[in-house]
Amino acid sequence: MTVENILKKYLPKEEGFQKTILQAMNYSMMAGGKRIRPTLMLESFRLFGGEGSQVEPFMAAMEMIHTYSLVHDDLPAMDNDTLRRGKPTTWSVYGEAMGILAGDCLLTYAFETASKAFTMTDHVERVGAAMKILAEKAGIYGMAGGQVVDVEKTGQPVAAEELEFIYRLKTGALLEASLMIGAVLAGADESQIQTMEQVGRNIGLAFQIRDDILDITGTEEELGKPIGSDERNEKTTYVTLYGLEKAEAEVERLSAEAIELLESIPGDTEFFCSFIRKLEKRSR
Ligand code: IPE
Ligand code: IPE
Ligand code: MG
Ligand code: MG
Ligand code: MG
Repeated sequence: MTVENILKKYLPKEEGFQKTILQAMNYSMMAGGKRIRPTLMLESFRLFGGEGSQVEPFMAAMEMIHTYSLVHDDLPAMDNDTLRRGKPTTWSVYGEAMGILAGDCLLTYAFETASKAFTMTDHVERVGAAMKILAEKAGIYGMAGGQVVDVEKTGQPVAAEELEFIYRLKTGALLEASLMIGAVLAGADESQIQTMEQVGRNIGLAFQIRDDILDITGTEEELGKPIGSDERNEKTTYVTLYGLEKAEAEVERLSAEAIELLESIPGDTEFFCSFIRKLEKRSR
């Protein structure tokens, strides 16, 4: 089954008095998106010899959490953007209150969905460990925590170490979690899980720096979201701190380091190496 079909399988049915929010959730989930996180999770699961479909609810849960982060990131009180994944943002279609609630419901439904894995494998302890990672990397010590500092520092000077903190959490955390959860569910050992976390951290930093670059040099058509959002919101980014050239070099350095880290993992890492190279050069 394709990643897209796995995600579809776990979407809630649009019925009942709360139908509007179910439509808003599914609208944002199905608007498009590169599906990078569930893809990385599945490939990490395969890399460590995972068998069975217990990874699927976690893939869907991860994309729900990522999508909620975008829905809230676009809200008027945050980045105030009106285009996402090539479509009007959730709040601009369903209104601000429904935008907030769609995010809340995606986040909660993600855990409801992930918990389905408990009855899909005999290794329930692995499912428990994966749930813990999902919660930590989404919450105050992960994505949401990063967004807090991002918002708080808007329009203010940001020190290099603060910017790295923001990127590691707001963007890196979910990528780290995707790689870690795949590994955990497949039964990887502690040091392998740590390596995957570090690979995710590198991919995450590179991914956000590339995102900053594309906010300046990209096109709305290709990205499916507005360019110039960072400047309009007076964000300090890697590009405003160091310039385009240094930003490009850092994406390259971080990506090369991620590939190097993978060398310690036994098994066929070719998918990851070429995926990292593709992400490094991405234009969308
Ligand atoms: C966008 O993530 C938000 C950032 C972390 C920079 P993606 O570029 O993966 O967004 P989709 O899922 O493809 O829309
Ligand atoms: C947001 O960073 C990362 C999230 C956790 C959503 P951005 O605000 O730069 O993401 P885009 O450019 O809107 O996708
Ligand atoms: Mg933002
Ligand atoms: Mg944004
Ligand atoms: Mg951006």
